[in-house]
Amino acid sequence: MNFEISIEKVKNSRIAEFDTENIGFGKIFADHMFISDWDGEAWINHRIVPYGPFSLSPATSAIHYGQSIFEGMKAFASIQNNHDIILFRPEENAKRFNRSARRMAMPEIPQELFIKSLTTLIDIDRNWVPRTEGGSLYIRPFMFATDDFIGVKPSNKYTYAVFCCPVGPYYSKPLRVKVEEEFSRAAPGGVGFTKCAGNYAASLLPTALAQDEGYDQVLWTDPITHTLVEETGTTNFFAVYGNTIVTPELTDTLLAGTTRESVILSLRALGYNVEERKLSVQELKDKLSAGLLSELFITGTAATLINLDGFGHNGDYHSVITQGNQDVSVKVKTYLDNIKMEITPDTNGWILKF
Ligand code: COI
Repeated sequence: MNFEISIEKVKNSRIAEFDTENIGFGKIFADHMFISDWDGEAWINHRIVPYGPFSLSPATSAIHYGQSIFEGMKAFASIQNNHDIILFRPEENAKRFNRSARRMAMPEIPQELFIKSLTTLIDIDRNWVPRTEGGSLYIRPFMFATDDFIGVKPSNKYTYAVFCCPVGPYYSKPLRVKVEEEFSRAAPGGVGFTKCAGNYAASLLPTALAQDEGYDQVLWTDPITHTLVEETGTTNFFAVYGNTIVTPELTDTLLAGTTRESVILSLRALGYNVEERKLSVQELKDKLSAGLLSELFITGTAATLINLDGFGHNGDYHSVITQGNQDVSVKVKTYLDNIKMEITPDTNGWILKF
């Protein structure tokens, strides 16, 4: 299909306000955004316009019933040629966006339109992609229900939009996480595998309570027994036992991270043994006291890959970072970064350059 996109450029770019030495995360937005409307039958009116507010009816159903999904992605400047922009496995985000859409009774986006919305928008705002080390352009595709109707039913109309913001690291130091045994992030048969807005809303109170206790994030456990590790705040979880790395197997209560899958494939390419299986908190404690747990790390688009300092459970803090090293996480992060920056060849076909 040929998706025509109309373009209205800003009169005055805001890029001079962008302090490349002090980027932060998610506070400053690039000049333009992409919008497309679902009219009940098709995606129409594909357009790029200056970044700015939406005008919404107070009855907009996404506000009331949460029919709202999003993706998180990053664009990088190539190290080979600073003008080239690189997207990492964007088709995986398109697929996950559509898995989220199906579960939330929302229309899917053709993969071609999804990718074209990104490349056309980023091409216009390519100067906003940070050229500083560790910097990237965070991309936020999202879709929300726009019917002004307060009966509970799937909306007829939706808006799909994309905006971008230059970002630095999401986390700046190894995290202390609290094993969460009271609250649940997701339930079997529920929406935990989607990137729907409500999953993040439901995590805010438990996270704030953990932060009041001095932790950075929660380590979610399974909603039935609260004994099995699932994922951390906005990231997937990995435990390193020497040459073997264990990560919780995917279920419908876990988010299938693109970074998670890329890390698994990269670890295997580096010669490590990766097990995707059930992983209990007790196992982590046993391995740690036996001196076999050398590293914990977490992965996500925003967070990339970062170590855990340790985890709190039942009032005790188990420091992992003091007993181990960061060999595996450093190796796999470098392996992936080198592919993203075109320092090593992309033999998997993971990057899209434009
Ligand atoms: C991402 O890693 O892109 C996420 O979706 C996390 C986000 C909520 C900051």
